[in-house]
Amino acid sequence: MKLTIGEQLTTTVYLLPLENKLDVLSDEVSDYATNVLEFKGNINEKFVYLGPNTDNVVIVGLGNKEDLTKDHYVQAANTAAKVLNEQKVVSTSVQVTSYGAVDENEALAGTAEGFLQSDYSFDHYRKNKTINSLTEVSFLTDLENADKLVEEVKNLVASVNVTRDLVNTPANDLYPETLANKVEELFEDTKVEVEVFDKEALEKLGAEALLAVSQGSAKEPRMLVLKYLPLGDEEPVISLVGKGVTYDSGGYAIKNAKGMATMMTDMAGAGAMIGALHAIASNNVQQNVIAIIGATENLISGEAFKNGDIINTLKGTTVEVVNTDAEGRLVLADILYYAATELNSKYIIDAATLTGAVIGALGQNISGVMTNNEDFLNKVTTASKTTGEDIWQLPITPEFREKVKGDNADLTNSAINFVGGGTIFAAAFLEHFVEDVPWVHFDIAGTSYAKSKGNKYLPKGASGIPVKTLYEFVKNLK
Ligand code: BES
Ligand code: MN
Ligand code: ZN
Repeated sequence: MKLTIGEQLTTTVYLLPLENKLDVLSDEVSDYATNVLEFKGNINEKFVYLGPNTDNVVIVGLGNKEDLTKDHYVQAANTAAKVLNEQKVVSTSVQVTSYGAVDENEALAGTAEGFLQSDYSFDHYRKNKTINSLTEVSFLTDLENADKLVEEVKNLVASVNVTRDLVNTPANDLYPETLANKVEELFEDTKVEVEVFDKEALEKLGAEALLAVSQGSAKEPRMLVLKYLPLGDEEPVISLVGKGVTYDSGGYAIKNAKGMATMMTDMAGAGAMIGALHAIASNNVQQNVIAIIGATENLISGEAFKNGDIINTLKGTTVEVVNTDAEGRLVLADILYYAATELNSKYIIDAATLTGAVIGALGQNISGVMTNNEDFLNKVTTASKTTGEDIWQLPITPEFREKVKGDNADLTNSAINFVGGGTIFAAAFLEHFVEDVPWVHFDIAGTSYAKSKGNKYLPKGASGIPVKTLYEFVKNLK
């Protein structure tokens, strides 16, 4: 999609809040919209007036002026893009106007994002590719930095799409080795340095928990460390840690067919961290950031780890593997500890498709977040309010810190009998490995992937959550 500034094309899109005067229309058309169609301007409500001899106008509502956010612009612009594609319109101008608490920069960025969000589909494996008619959009704005701002949004959405492609790719094509190759290719000739630990290097390091999970697979694991250090390697870094289980069968605690069908997406945390780093680096954000990915399959074979095994971790803490399907926390144990002890981390954020329980608690459109540092989480929450990627905090309580203690080892990876609060249990387990570095954990099991229709402007399949929030947080960090 070609995005330009300031060209008046034959079709014009307006995004207008509730009860706004329709004075962009002629009196006659305005009367038709208001009195016949009763157009009001509710969020995503549309008035479409296209034809050979008309003004060629699309109006989409933004909702209440009082509670307007940037995300309302993204939604409304995306609705406009969908209408224009349905109507086979090729190019359009968009009048960008700020209302309420949304400033002009946010209005333009949100509008540009809404259009770009309409352009993703995962059709690499299909003969019939999706072809959208809308290929040129020009923004009518007085902003002097408009070109730069649109470029930033373009890079951001392209990075979200990097995540989506990785997450949507099936496990026969995406496994630790091919993930490492793709990442090396993605960051070739950029300021990001990619370090790959293969099985031998992981053995030398002592990443025994990650290795235990990978034991049952014919494919060897990898740990990826992606370094973007524009401030130099003496300055502290923000570490982005991602669960990269490229397929989760459950291991001997095997999942059923339905539960397993989408488990190629169990690397969505890793995908998000790769996409977020891509967004940060391609927009030259001046923060030191390192992404750490633990990539492995969780399968069954004569070599696989078993329920009841006691394993070691990089930290030296022993763990009873009560359940081989609680493998993500084992992978994270090692790579969180690596981030906390080897990388001069001032902040650690991890993202993981960690628990089915978070879907029960918060559904498919709100990620669970947990922390050992409320001030840090507050900053992340501010970022998420701007991006519209909703989050909700769950507490880590003393009761759960007790529950993760093992009988015959230091920790247990799961409770044998159901105790509820599975998302909190997992976070209490992870907390052991961050060594008191300020840390926020995202459980994205519900939000990273939509089997049928995506939320708001998100596509079906991988959402790319929480790439935008991570980018927004890093960019605004003082
Ligand atoms: N990858 C799953 C979590 C998951 C479930 C992600 C559904 C996306 C959709 C994770 O490894 C897992 O299996 N967790 C178990 C933990 C349990 C055994 C303690 C779960 O949630 O059932
Ligand atoms: Mn599992
Ligand atoms: Zn898993």
